[in-house]
Amino acid sequence: MKKDRIKIVTIGGGSSYTPELIEGYIKRKDELPIREIWLVDIEEGKEKLEIVGNLAKRMVEKAGLDWEVHLTLDRREALKDADFVSTQFRVGLLDARIKDERIPLSHGILGQETNGAGGMFKAFRTIPVILDIVNDMKELCPDAWLVNFTNPSGMVTEAVLKYGNFEKVVGLCNVPINHMMSESKLLGKDPEELYFQFAGLNHLHWHKVYDKEGDDVTSLVMEKIFSSENSEMENIKFIPFFQEQIRDLEMLPCGYHRYYYLTNDMLQKELEEFEKNATRAETVKKVEAELFEIYKNPDLKEKPEQLSQRGGTHYSDAACELINSIYNDKRSTMVVSTRNNGALADLPYDCAVEVSSIITAGGPRPNNFGKFKPAQRGLVQVMKAMEEITIEAAVTGDYGKALQAFTINPLVPSGDIARTLLNEMLVAHKKHLPQFKEVIEKIENGELK
Ligand code: G6P
Repeated sequence: MKKDRIKIVTIGGGSSYTPELIEGYIKRKDELPIREIWLVDIEEGKEKLEIVGNLAKRMVEKAGLDWEVHLTLDRREALKDADFVSTQFRVGLLDARIKDERIPLSHGILGQETNGAGGMFKAFRTIPVILDIVNDMKELCPDAWLVNFTNPSGMVTEAVLKYGNFEKVVGLCNVPINHMMSESKLLGKDPEELYFQFAGLNHLHWHKVYDKEGDDVTSLVMEKIFSSENSEMENIKFIPFFQEQIRDLEMLPCGYHRYYYLTNDMLQKELEEFEKNATRAETVKKVEAELFEIYKNPDLKEKPEQLSQRGGTHYSDAACELINSIYNDKRSTMVVSTRNNGALADLPYDCAVEVSSIITAGGPRPNNFGKFKPAQRGLVQVMKAMEEITIEAAVTGDYGKALQAFTINPLVPSGDIARTLLNEMLVAHKKHLPQFKEVIEKIENGELK
């Protein structure tokens, strides 16, 4: 039954993105009757939680709302009777991401937050934690929806569906929204005037664009993008795609496709950053420090402009709209990670895909897409298999599966180098990989080389 007032919990509440989330709720105050917002973090995130949490309180007060904003380190207390739980935590904080980027790069291999070896390790660290959260939710708020933004968002969503046996989960990402906003601008239209059909996996989707007359305007958008020469995302270095290849796809790729279509060129850019101690995570660490200094100002009562330097900008707005759409059964179309259920014919029925979906009170209903062209199918099937194996490795702590995932990931060279890299990363992240404890001990003792 629809509740009169709702309780929303955000795990990883001390994140620098929180002001955007609060702004998103305030924008929707007439549709979303919030009673309580709980921002949860861990001991290491306490200082950040207090700084950003106090800014959240000032924002709510300035908006003249009676919402209670609670800051806590007690996740279970927060989850009790929640209606919506959003997750935006980073296991091991930015230092773990720095390792995910720098260790592969030190071997001349791509190191990225959600792609390649780094992305797989982020999954290894995150999946056990999300499954713990889901266990708590089943006990304390079994009817709540879980809105996940924690990366790798697609794999985390699939882990919850398959291994958490929890159906009320939706994965979110800001990449599709960014495409919709920038591409409608290129056409001089409002996003509502266009229909975007997205299909693929999180950070590996393609899309088509249609206008109000139903005409396919994808190639028009494509040509405008080719002549605009800039990156869609703050966090992805701009290297132009090969125009002939993209035209052949007849769909628009996302920014992350550069890692697969232009692997060596992206690697060279990353190596330059590596040499300067300026990988993306190292840069973000500096941006974060600046943001939190800004957030400390007691006179600040709104989201500061500087937050747009982060790659995830607009994500929170998507999270708020998703909650709004579920709560009010708005049936709006959004791009989410959800169970495929046959919408993408080339991918397993029960896996998570990122696809345009109608958001109802019962969650996302994915729009049928059908089949990909061979060029897309080949990549997306390998990547989905890699994701499935990575998730299994994250759940079981099985070394063979981890090695298998490394071996088939197109961004990790196979052979001895894959094994060396895997072992080095397992040891480097051991604090956050309890499921691999025995394997890591063997590596450290020299029993596993
Ligand atoms: C994009 C992705 C997010 C990712 C973010 C990184 O927006 O969609 O999944 O977390 O970029 O941005 P950052 O500023 O942390 O590099």
